[in-house]
Amino acid sequence: MNLFLFLFTLFSICVLESHSWADNRVRKFKKDFSFGVATSAYQVEGAWDKDGKGESIWDRYHHTHPEMIKDGRNGDEACDSYHKYKRDVEMLRELGVHHYKFSISWPRVLPNGLANEINEAGLEYYDNLINELLKYNIQPMVTMYNLDLPQNLQELGGWTNPLVSQWFEDYAEVLFEKFSDRVKLWITINNPTTVCFETYSGVLAPGINSTGIGDYLCVKNVLVAHAKAYRLYESTYKKIYKGEVGISLLLNYPDTFDNKTENEQAAEKYREFTIGLYMNPIWSKYGDFPLSVRNTIAKKSKEQGYAKSRLPSFTPDEIKLIKGSSDFLGLNHYTTYLIKATNKKYPAPSLEDDISVERTAREEWIQSQTSWLKSAPYGIYKLCLYINKMYDYPQIYVTEQGWSTTTSLNDRSRVENLRQYLIALLFAIEDGAQVKGYTVWSLMDTVEWNAGTSERFGLYEVDFGTEEKTRKARLSALVYKRIIQKKIIEKDWEPKYWTISISNKTNSDKDEL
Ligand code: NOJ
Repeated sequence: MNLFLFLFTLFSICVLESHSWADNRVRKFKKDFSFGVATSAYQVEGAWDKDGKGESIWDRYHHTHPEMIKDGRNGDEACDSYHKYKRDVEMLRELGVHHYKFSISWPRVLPNGLANEINEAGLEYYDNLINELLKYNIQPMVTMYNLDLPQNLQELGGWTNPLVSQWFEDYAEVLFEKFSDRVKLWITINNPTTVCFETYSGVLAPGINSTGIGDYLCVKNVLVAHAKAYRLYESTYKKIYKGEVGISLLLNYPDTFDNKTENEQAAEKYREFTIGLYMNPIWSKYGDFPLSVRNTIAKKSKEQGYAKSRLPSFTPDEIKLIKGSSDFLGLNHYTTYLIKATNKKYPAPSLEDDISVERTAREEWIQSQTSWLKSAPYGIYKLCLYINKMYDYPQIYVTEQGWSTTTSLNDRSRVENLRQYLIALLFAIEDGAQVKGYTVWSLMDTVEWNAGTSERFGLYEVDFGTEEKTRKARLSALVYKRIIQKKIIEKDWEPKYWTISISNKTNSDKDEL
């Protein structure tokens, strides 16, 4: 990065909170900016045991622990996208999106997780979906993994077994072989922080509690697995098919609670543990976990009587493999935290204990239906500029941002959240962020893991009680459609009629609604 850009970024971060969000200049997304929506396999497909699909850790977990699901609704049927994918594509056409981020279910393709047995019916489902998308010029953005590990691999240690990187590479090869001629945007792994920290704190499937150990083993193995898949594409497919491979990280922004030095330092520490932990190995020039993270965990581990640091280290070969292994950063961003220093003691080793900070939020931040999700749009701006400063202006796709409501079709809070986050993103782009696309989580209501269907993230409402799983556009779907058409955010725009139809090229107001 040149000196001017660096100083400019620093300046932008300093003036951020006083940034004039209210100036009258109309900011516009570039013509080639890609708008999309996202879903994931377990959350929408249903058909959990149809046509040769193997069992995933979520199938097992929800079947054996139904009490963990808030409204009792698991992913057995979900939105039944396995059978209704054509209706999903119709909705994408109604919205007029440019890309669709969906995930492939590993056990649907490889029932026991290993590449010795391929389920052709599973591949055929994704083949049909991809072809249907391309028929309407919608780019498939394919996530290879979103939390649904084959149960068979879990029995072998799952993401804590170093062999998982080989299993993942073999799985990636099956997908690249089959789909690279048509898929140009690949995401290896979605949300490593959820895959590792929520999984190994016993909250999510497979419900194993191994905080401070299993979670860190998982982080290392996820990064190696990602890099192996990236290198495989780079060496064998990239020249022919010219696609891009990235990783999607859940990066909420840890801001300081106030300007006390101890809180500013705590926020920086939190950023290193939650952003640097994944980004440094791939995007920093050292290609390793942040030094402060390594030192903190090594020191604590010693005090706790461990012979070695609980954070595994990378070999020099692994560092080489991982460094630079992403064509773009997939940014999943939902909220901002305010970080305070604390002396709180935790009973067992864990990320919280290693970081030892307190996470809060401003009272005035609007609350969604989800306890951790509050609206603080300035955070996405700060995050983008922080990423630029630390990692030298990487290419970014916002691969998830979203808001939860009740079942109502009149989802004004989602509309407001969408507008505010897109405005903040436009400011970030103006100030140097290399953002090529944006993706709403989610196209439609889904099975929100342990929340079941009690938290609704969809632009479309889904009636889960019916066999048809009827989808209906919410107000936000109409507003998003309009944003995609106009590429600007209109503060008070309201649809005239509450209907939505397939986009056509002329896009006049009348055709739209
Ligand atoms: C991110 C995850 O990728 C997705 O599975 C989840 O539904 C949303 N966050 C909302 O919590």
